[in-house]
Order: sequence, then C-alpha cells, then structure tokens
Amino acid sequence: MQPIVETRDLYKFHEASGEKQAILRGISLSVAPGEFVCIMGPSGSGKSTLLHLISGLDQPSAGEIALAGKDLAKLAPDERTLQRRRTVGYVFQFFNLLPNLTVLENVGLPLAIAGTGPEREEARLKELLARLGLAGKERSFPHQLSGGEMQRVSLARALAGGQPLLLCDEPTGNLSQKAGLEVMQLLRRCRDDEGRALLLVTHNPRDAAFADRVLFLVDGELATERELRGPNLAVEDVHAALAALHI
Ligand SMILES: Nc1ncnc2c1ncn2[C@@H]1O[C@H](COP(=O)(O)OP(=O)(O)OP(=O)(O)O)[C@@H](O)[C@H]1O
Ligand SMILES: [Mg+2]
Repeated sequence: MQPIVETRDLYKFHEASGEKQAILRGISLSVAPGEFVCIMGPSGSGKSTLLHLISGLDQPSAGEIALAGKDLAKLAPDERTLQRRRTVGYVFQFFNLLPNLTVLENVGLPLAIAGTGPEREEARLKELLARLGLAGKERSFPHQLSGGEMQRVSLARALAGGQPLLLCDEPTGNLSQKAGLEVMQLLRRCRDDEGRALLLVTHNPRDAAFADRVLFLVDGELATERELRGPNLAVEDVHAALAALHI
C-alpha cells in the first residue's frame, strides 16, 4: 500500500549565531494510510520542524518527502499548497488561529479555501465544536478564549476538512487530564472509524500509548532501536523507552 507520507534521508539545517546547525539528520519514516504514529523527543529535538517539512510548509535542506505518493520537491509551489490542503489537517503547537475570524469562521476556513461553502456545512461544524466542548463559543474570537479552548478550535479546524492525514503537534499540551483524554479518544476514533492516518507529537506517555507505533527523535535522529509497536501499547513501555533514552 502506498504510504500517506514517506520521508527519505531528511536533513534540515538552521543558522544559529552564524553557525550552521543540523536540526534533523537523516530522517526516514513512513506512515501507512490509517496508521497512528507518535513521535516523542526532548524539547528542541526537531519534532515541530519535522511536521512543518512533512506538511510542505517548510522545505528540507536535503532529502525527499512524498505526500500521498507525490514528491513535494517536484511540485510547483501552488501545486504543493494544493497537495497539502488535500492531504493534511494540521493541529499547530501554537494554534495559528486567525484573530479577526470567529471560532466558527476559523473552523470553516479550510472548507472556504477549498471552495465548499462552509455555510452549507454549518450544522456539521457546530456539531464538531460541541463534541470538543465548545458549544456556545461559535461567535467568539480567539482572544476571548483560554489556551485550551484555542487548542480545541485548532483541532476542530484540522478535523473539519476530512483529510486523510492529521498532523497533531502537542494537541493536548494545554488541556486538563480529562479534556486531554477526550481529545485522544476523539483522535483514535478518527483512525478507527474514518481510517485517517495520524502523526502525533506529544510529551505525554499516556497520549503516546494510543498509537500503533511510537518513534523517538533524539538529537535530530530517530532512535530506531527503541521504536515501540502496538497494538495495545502500555504506558509503562513508553516510560521505560523514555528513561532508556534519558528523555
Ligand atoms: N527558523 C529557525 N531558525 C533557527 N533555528 C530554528 C528555527 N526553527 C527552529 N529552530 C531550532 O531548531 C530546533 C528544533 O526546534 P523544534 O521547534 O522543531 O523543536 P521541538 O522538538 O518541536 O521542541 P518542543 O518540544 O519544545 O516543541 C530548536 O533548537 C530551535 O531553536
Ligand atoms: Mg515543537
């Protein structure tokens, strides 16, 4: 089966105080359609950078990325954007909500961009917001929301488009234990009921245990020897792998 995303020998360099620094060093990974893969790693290990590259929002210094079978480097910029919109729903670590749009407008934005009038889908979007505990917030603006509410709006926006791959960067980072667990159960259902693939970045072992596979990113490389494979991963296994890697 063709992977929904595949990276080959990915490198990313950044300049820091005049010095070239390797953030990612030879990342090769593959996610199958309907697979739930988790990435864990210390702060600054390059997790968000990797998701940016996979979504085509940023470009690698070297290596290849194929999104739903299309090599991103071989696409013209507008085709790359189109491929991203078609394929990826993105829950950003820092939400990326548009401040001048209401909650409902933010969530409907992917549909508006795709040319499907979000007005026609209003009932579905409202139902999605209600499922995420945001009923009554439809007309609020982002600055009127708490961090956890913004995070759930960002999640609703990523879910609304129905894309086959969800990139989730710390989707429970600002939520209470209970709200975080509900979000994880919702994500798991996206995989189980709708067959969507998930690439989840988290610091939370409980969240990681929902995945089919857990990968560990350390110093810009995947510690493949520690990779965990489900089904039914135990939180203790995740803790043990983190301890072994000194994370
Ligand atoms: N545009 C940039 N210019 C220079 N350095 C950058 C840039 N973006 C990221 N970095 C550096 O790359 C490294 C990885 O950043 P990244 O945001 O991917 O880490 P992360 O694993 O997501 O961390 P966290 O768990 O804290 O979110 C960091 O050291 C960061 O300072
Ligand atoms: Mg990050």
